[in-house]
Amino acid sequence: MEGIIKKSSQLLFCFIVTITINLFATANLFAADYLEVVDKNISFQWKINGSNLDVILKAKTAGWVGVGFEPSMAMKDAHFIIGFIQNNKATIEDHFGTGINQHQAITALGGKDSISNKSGKLEKGETTLNFTIPLKASDKYHKNLDTGKDVVVLLAYSDKTSLLRKHPFYASYSINLKSGAKKLLKHSK
Ligand code: HEM
Repeated sequence: MEGIIKKSSQLLFCFIVTITINLFATANLFAADYLEVVDKNISFQWKINGSNLDVILKAKTAGWVGVGFEPSMAMKDAHFIIGFIQNNKATIEDHFGTGINQHQAITALGGKDSISNKSGKLEKGETTLNFTIPLKASDKYHKNLDTGKDVVVLLAYSDKTSLLRKHPFYASYSINLKSGAKKLLKHSK
């Protein structure tokens, strides 16, 4: 009888160890799935998911956080995704760079919001936005993101939630979305 109990507890121990190892492996795999650029207090993580790009955008702020793709100059002609958390609710908008330092909601310009899977949280002073965008442009306000080539990615955040307020921080990078290779192009002081 004693032998059976001993054997059973050994089996139970092995089972718990196996489950724990598997859980850690799955968590690591999940984290390793995403490529990332981290710059000071902001991080842009992405994963190519078929014809879409899954994004996790984080910044140490309770204000807005944004990412932009493929400007022609400064902020002009870029496709922006910009959002913030207020009262535990994520607002994430699709914008277009209408000038070198201006942008407007794509829906206000007559285009269609292309962002899906919108969610987010504000925890310990850090805002996290999760969303998905198509890699193929659906209209003139969106960009074809060629995953094999370098694309220009803009990052910025503000300490205010108002989208009329400028960013104390910005950076622009040239990124190969497939390999994760990146080069810093420009940085705010
Ligand atoms: C998704 C959000 C945004 C991103 C990723 C972004 C990114 C950038 C970048 C990279 C630059 C430097 C461009 C260059 O000189 O090459 C810039 C400049 C500028 N942005 Fe934005 N921006 C965003 C939102 C905003 C908002 C909401 C405002 C104001 C309402 C704004 C106002 C400006 C202004 C005035 C400049 C030029 C002045 C300066 O260099 O400080 N931006 N932005």
